[in-house]
Amino acid sequence: MNFENNLAFARALDEQDILKEMRNEYLFPQQNSKPFIYLCGNSLGLQPKVAREVLNVQLNNWQNLAVEGWFDGDSPWMFYHKELKKLMAPIVGASAAEVCPMNTLTVNLHLLMVSFYRPKGKRFKIIMEAGAFPSDQYAIESQVRFHGFDPKEAIIEVKPREGEYILATADIVKAIESNADEIALVLFGGINYFTGQFFDMKAITLAGHQVGAIVGFDLAHAAGNVPLELHNWEVDFACWCSYKYQNAGPGGISGIFVHEKHSVDQTMNRFAGWWGYKESQRFKMEKGFIPEVGADGWQVSCTQVMPMALYHASLQLFEKAGFMEKLRSKSKILTAYLFFVIDEVNKNLGEEQYKIITPKNENERGAQVSIIAKANGKLIFDELVKNNVLGDWREPNVIRLSPVPMYNSYEDVFLTGELLLTISQHLK
Ligand SMILES: Cc1ncc(COP(=O)(O)O)c(C=O)c1O
Repeated sequence: MNFENNLAFARALDEQDILKEMRNEYLFPQQNSKPFIYLCGNSLGLQPKVAREVLNVQLNNWQNLAVEGWFDGDSPWMFYHKELKKLMAPIVGASAAEVCPMNTLTVNLHLLMVSFYRPKGKRFKIIMEAGAFPSDQYAIESQVRFHGFDPKEAIIEVKPREGEYILATADIVKAIESNADEIALVLFGGINYFTGQFFDMKAITLAGHQVGAIVGFDLAHAAGNVPLELHNWEVDFACWCSYKYQNAGPGGISGIFVHEKHSVDQTMNRFAGWWGYKESQRFKMEKGFIPEVGADGWQVSCTQVMPMALYHASLQLFEKAGFMEKLRSKSKILTAYLFFVIDEVNKNLGEEQYKIITPKNENERGAQVSIIAKANGKLIFDELVKNNVLGDWREPNVIRLSPVPMYNSYEDVFLTGELLLTISQHLK
């Protein structure tokens, strides 16, 4: 598309946007009585307007039904997670049986590694991307230590080439192949939190399987952002949070995926709890854990009704938007427009003041654009916030801006570019 850097052009794109009404389903934070241009859905998605109402429904159920709420009412809590499973599945490309809402992300990463990181003999290593989100690094280090290994020996990090930010798929595949018989687990992010790079998950999964390793993904930045085909790609396991692109609120419930090929494997280690027990017999309260078939068998504790109500409401908005297809089409153009307006800022300044480290190729990124300012990065970020553009700052030097197709507009993107130019000119 031939973009133009003016308000009329941005508004014309908004006019044609078939998802434009979705924006009205969300609440925008305000500053000085003006809504923010919110470009921080990669960190915490906006509150759906219906959130308060769905919490009230559950508070009323609790008030009126109390313990009977587990089995009575319009959607008894005992089976409530099933309503979410149906809506989560199309977002990650899975069957409903392969996904389940539960716990929080890092907790699920641990629970899944308990099952899927099975070091044996010299096959004890985990391969991951260098610069993964710290919680993943800590989780993986602590898991390898738990098995008695030294993280320095047991963890292989794949790094970008000298002077680059982005990982080449060929380098990831090569790293897997060159450590073929030592790798127990390939564990990558779907999208890297810092650069916004969307990894070639299909190629990574294939490479991992070809050397006999298990392959899992942390999809914190990918689920609800880019289309995924976890089942078809034969990914073994994955987990994600719901509070970023899926707008389910701070600390919201996490989701897990376990491929159906593992769904009846009773030989795996699990840190079990009663909610993962075979559902039809759970209340017999018998000795000896029998897991429920599918992802549900990884549940530990009883249903967290309030966070699930928020996730459910948000998933219904994804259903209204037609799940990922239209969102992704808009996202590609919206993010390309952000690339364009930043490029225009550089042109207007007569120098590359802003370097984008996110891949330009639309198939290698989601909604996030990570920018390094040549100078005054934090100051520029603070000025953006003061002037009602809310992205986020990631140490040591990156401004992340995420135009989210669910609720951001082309006008948001144009105005951000305009403001960035004004700030930059004042600082010159
Ligand atoms: C890639 C990634 N992994 C893990 C986490 C941690 O998630 P939680 O605090 O929900 O466990 C985050 C949080 O932003 C993340 O971005």
